[in-house]
Amino acid sequence: MRPIELPQLPGLNQLRVVLGVCGGIAAYKSAELVRLLVKQGCTVQVVMTESATHFIAPLTFQALSGKAVHVSQWPAENGNQGNLDRGMPHIDISRHADFLLIAPCTANSMAKYAHGFADNLLDNLVLARNCPMAIAPAMNVEMWNNRATQRNISQLQTDGIHVFGPAAGEQACGEVGSGRMLEPFEVVLELARAVNPKPLAGKKILLTAGPTFEAIDPVRGITNRSSGKMGYALAQAAWLMGGEVTLVSGPTALPSPYGAHILQVQSAKQMHAAVFGQIEQNDLFIGVAAVADYGIKNPSVQKQKKQSDRAVGLHMEFELNPDILAEVGELASKRTRPLTVVGFAAETENLDEYASRKLESKKAQFIIGNLAQHALGADQTRLSIYSKRQPPERLDSMDKLSAAEAVLSFISKHTQTHTS
Ligand code: C5P
Repeated sequence: MRPIELPQLPGLNQLRVVLGVCGGIAAYKSAELVRLLVKQGCTVQVVMTESATHFIAPLTFQALSGKAVHVSQWPAENGNQGNLDRGMPHIDISRHADFLLIAPCTANSMAKYAHGFADNLLDNLVLARNCPMAIAPAMNVEMWNNRATQRNISQLQTDGIHVFGPAAGEQACGEVGSGRMLEPFEVVLELARAVNPKPLAGKKILLTAGPTFEAIDPVRGITNRSSGKMGYALAQAAWLMGGEVTLVSGPTALPSPYGAHILQVQSAKQMHAAVFGQIEQNDLFIGVAAVADYGIKNPSVQKQKKQSDRAVGLHMEFELNPDILAEVGELASKRTRPLTVVGFAAETENLDEYASRKLESKKAQFIIGNLAQHALGADQTRLSIYSKRQPPERLDSMDKLSAAEAVLSFISKHTQTHTS
């Protein structure tokens, strides 16, 4: 299972979130959601419906958020209303918010928000808000599929409310289908996407990441030390910046980037086929994978046995693999629809020289360079961005998600100026 610890996501530090918790079994997930939001640097004010208090105690949220939880719209019934401006909780609480997030959001609350009802504190806050809002629906699959619910969901989307999820899968009621609340870390990622600028909105981005695995026989093969972390971070950042992302990944131990469509491959040839099956629909290609230059010519169908005779040794014939990036660069140079091509150069020496050469040899608009001995498998990286028109852009050493955001911002800014 994916570890729930997230790197620091853009836009969340110091974000003031009002978290509305409605009465569904998924309310237990919101405790973890509060923990993750607080870890990201958000201040979280929890407001519960009365029915939510039957699933989880306000005290749990109070402990995790460090703030008294509001339930009633009648101030005297709330233990602590001290931080309100005018003693008008139905207005004041969301006046102090940058974002109103309802998770879990039940079918009942969705229906109320779609029609503007206001008969509990949370409904009032929804109606009186002056900040963006999202819901993370959670309900039984039949309730989710019900035409009334679907009508309400499209009304809420028309009204500009973000809808996070729901996911499909096994439900608390034992049924299987759509209606599960997203996992807490997924809600946090959706929130980051909702609050951040989206320079890649409407853009389709295809990436390769990780090593390739060139089979010698059914159990052995040749691979390399690429962890895939940089490519996965770029895929995650591209989604956070509004892009529609497809990631072609060699074998890695990493959790899939949230929101990206992922195609798993093993060999360079498979990676090549997956990329060329997708490339036509894309606007930006980023080749991050450490693709093996050579594959085994005729991999053995059966596991090869050890030879006892030392003199015989082991002989393998290698063949050159396709150069995916160079072929994409070639395609882009002929295509009428613009395709921005970005490659990586992980070198152990002469980085500036080798990276600049790749701009030509791969027909790429940008090459991202780093020193292999610093970058391979590490969580931090120091990148330089090479392009034909200007001197290299040197980035500071930073975590790979931040580096990915910096690279994509640079590319998006500079491709806009190239094409306009
Ligand atoms: O010069 P080199 O081939 O090592 O350049 C590395 C860049 O080319 C990376 O972006 C890598 O993803 C890409 N590449 C590729 N196909 C290959 C070899 C490298 O796409 N067969």
